[in-house]
Amino acid sequence: MSKPKVFVGRVLPEGGLEMIRGACDADVWPDELPPSREALLERVRGVDGLVSLLTDPVDAEVMDVAGPGLKVISNYAVGYDNVDVPAATARGIPVGNTPGVLTETTADLAFALLMAGARRIVEGADYVRAGKWRTWGPMLFLGHDVHGATLGIVGMGRIGQAMTRRAAGFGMRVVYYDPYCNPEKAPFLNITVRCDLDELLAESDFVSLHVPLTDQTHQLIDARALDKMKKTGVLINTSRGPVVHTDDLYEALAAGRIAYAALDVTDPEPLPPGHKLLSLPNCLVVPHIASASWATRTRMAVMAAENLLAGLRGERLPNCVNPEVYDARS
Ligand code: DGY
Repeated sequence: MSKPKVFVGRVLPEGGLEMIRGACDADVWPDELPPSREALLERVRGVDGLVSLLTDPVDAEVMDVAGPGLKVISNYAVGYDNVDVPAATARGIPVGNTPGVLTETTADLAFALLMAGARRIVEGADYVRAGKWRTWGPMLFLGHDVHGATLGIVGMGRIGQAMTRRAAGFGMRVVYYDPYCNPEKAPFLNITVRCDLDELLAESDFVSLHVPLTDQTHQLIDARALDKMKKTGVLINTSRGPVVHTDDLYEALAAGRIAYAALDVTDPEPLPPGHKLLSLPNCLVVPHIASASWATRTRMAVMAAENLLAGLRGERLPNCVNPEVYDARS
């Protein structure tokens, strides 16, 4: 019997890729850069399964070009804003993602960004590298304490909770905004204070974003929100770039209306070389690496493979973002 045909949008860590290659006739996109729209449409034609990445917009056209044989879309990420899930559901296609395994790794990076912003680590390192370090100085690179400071968490899902545990270890006070979170399901949240977004922005020394990108969170942090933050406030974004209004953030940082931004994600992404945000000494940008540890990316690849292979066998995906496709089948 011939193996199912699948397109895999990039070379994934071994483990996951071996599972896919073992069970499928796999076309793996070999380049560092994602396939162009044309290339994606060409490569998905007639596939049974698709492993997509957050750089690949998977919309109705992609699904229709793939054709009626498309049984599963397995997204190699916990976020799935790149996939038109309602379009997949309408076509009866389950969509998989990789929740859970990247929670702690992402929170590690978010906390690293928080500390980098508080203690001006990158500015200090650049200063030394540029040969400017001449003496110990009483006023040299003064930053802000992390211990005793207030951390505002926007979005108290798995990663927001992991961030809260780190903050507790550093003796921080935590406040959070999340209209959907049920505090009874996360007992440790009794050390935190639930508040509305404006209160959180006004009270927090550090504001860390942990929301999915939806119509409600698109540009949630705009000029109005940034104006509510403390002048000494630090913004950390490891969620999705468009949750922050880029031009408004630039203005707030350039005018000193907030002190610092540390961003793992940007809008646009990637930021083009010479982008105005990169001219600011008080803005740190890293290239969407929050989940980028060897162990986590390998586990994500295995999960993506498990979702793909289950879908190809007609079984329920272990991690499915649109389980309603199964209701429609039964
Ligand atoms: C995700 O999984 O959504 C991250 O942004 C990348 O790992």
